[in-house]
Amino acid sequence: MLVVLRLGHRLGRDERISTHCGLVARALGASSIIYSGDHDSGIIESIKKTAESWGGKFKAEYNESWRQVIKSYKKRGFAIAHLSMYGLPLQKKISALRRKKKMLVIIGSEKVPPEVYDLADFNISVTQQPHSEVAALALLLHEYFRGKELKKQFSKAKLKIIPQERGKKVEKD
Ligand SMILES: C[S@@+](CC[C@H](N)C(=O)[O-])C[C@H]1O[C@@H](n2cnc3c(N)ncnc32)[C@H](O)[C@@H]1O
Repeated sequence: MLVVLRLGHRLGRDERISTHCGLVARALGASSIIYSGDHDSGIIESIKKTAESWGGKFKAEYNESWRQVIKSYKKRGFAIAHLSMYGLPLQKKISALRRKKKMLVIIGSEKVPPEVYDLADFNISVTQQPHSEVAALALLLHEYFRGKELKKQFSKAKLKIIPQERGKKVEKD
């Protein structure tokens, strides 16, 4: 089970990228996303609507206190993996991560409080270059699930794409 914690969401600045964090988490095999930072019901609603139409059991929620989220997941036996360009390379730590069956993956926005680095069991970089929480999350999920997430089935989907060489085919339930 893999849960994503999105830190420091900012109203008026991060709507699109925070929504993409949720969409990528859902599409690539995570069970849920928790948003912290500014409360933004629009994002939660939009992820819920996506899940209603496209299926699966993905959940999105808000928690004001990222510290409390980290501590409570630790207590429940989750390993805490924080994605940061300053961490140890993903390719060196992926085997250790795969051994953890329950994991909370933390992604930041502009500034990540130093305490997060201390609370994390793993600080993981996806290259040592600055890029994006969306890309870092996608690559971690892809490596963690060994590509099996690409074939994930979403139960009770109202909309289902039938892949085509060209054009768009969507089956409606
Ligand atoms: C705009 S970046 C901020 C970059 C930040 N200085 C850092 O520590 O990675 C927002 C988030 O994207 C993720 N991120 C960006 N580049 C990354 C990288 N090379 N490896 C892992 N995560 C990265 C981190 O979760 C970071 O908090």
